Amino acid sequence: MARMKAIIDCDPGHDDAVAIVLAAKHFDLLGVTTVGGNAPLWRVTDNALRVLDLIGRPDIPVARGAAGPLMGSLPGVGQRVHGATGLDGADLPRSQRAVIPRNGVEFLIDTVMSNPGTVVIATGPLTNVALAMRQEPRFARSVARLSIMGGSATWGNVSAAAEFNVWADPEAAHIVFTSGAKLTMCGLDLTRQAAVGRETIAGFRGVGTRTAGVIADLLEFYRAASEGLTGSPTVPLHDPCAVAVLAAPELFEFRFGQVEVETRGEWTRGMTVVDRRRWESEEPGVGPVGNCRLATRVDAEGLFALVREALASCP
Ligand code: BDR
Ligand code: CA
Repeated sequence: MARMKAIIDCDPGHDDAVAIVLAAKHFDLLGVTTVGGNAPLWRVTDNALRVLDLIGRPDIPVARGAAGPLMGSLPGVGQRVHGATGLDGADLPRSQRAVIPRNGVEFLIDTVMSNPGTVVIATGPLTNVALAMRQEPRFARSVARLSIMGGSATWGNVSAAAEFNVWADPEAAHIVFTSGAKLTMCGLDLTRQAAVGRETIAGFRGVGTRTAGVIADLLEFYRAASEGLTGSPTVPLHDPCAVAVLAAPELFEFRFGQVEVETRGEWTRGMTVVDRRRWESEEPGVGPVGNCRLATRVDAEGLFALVREALASCP
């Protein structure tokens, strides 16, 4: 069976790096677009190139997208947990290749419009995706599914209410959540179920490939940096959930709901407000309501097995 075509729009980022590994394994990955988020755009773009080299996929094009949010400027808080480079913890060699000479937003539009059935996996702020929706009104309906790591149905991480990717560009997230695109949301309430500690990271290392060793080094940095901030010895594998939810949906449970993005609140800017009054299952006869399919439960061990399998297939 032909593999599903996908683009990953990301800001690597430790968990984005694992998401790229998974996406390259499970999809016909047509490209990687980058967006300023965890670190400045030039850093995350450089990191995307390095990760693709690491996994032996220099054939996958990388296109640089938006440097910062639709309004205001890029907040620096991502580097608190991802380090100054956005991918601290392992010395990945600088890539010998360059990004393609096309803007990431144009790449998203052209690739989706000319490849029916393409899914987009967004693991950074939603700036590029929102710009694509603005520039090409048919884009939202043309994406087969948009899988988002972002938001939360409970509480936030960067603030009491907001999750980082939505908080970093709430106006973009608002455009995306009101676009009519087929959305799947992997929020913090889901990704916190897929937290890795020392033992799980050691299991990744145990796969034995060079990629597995580097990813384990990166995740150990990420875990320790996160522990310094939160006090928890485990760190969620946020972004891989947005890949796995499409590649292995049997590992997840879902509900449909209406999600709005708070763009004005004094304490709640960047919050995703999930209306659980209209919180429906996918049982036959019940029918979907709302603008979004929310992943609510994940089989974490199943997800970790998927990561190990992907690491084993890399050099
Ligand atoms: C999200 O923020 C980033 O730090 C991670 O890469 C992930 O995409 C989690 O809130
Ligand atoms: Ca990310």
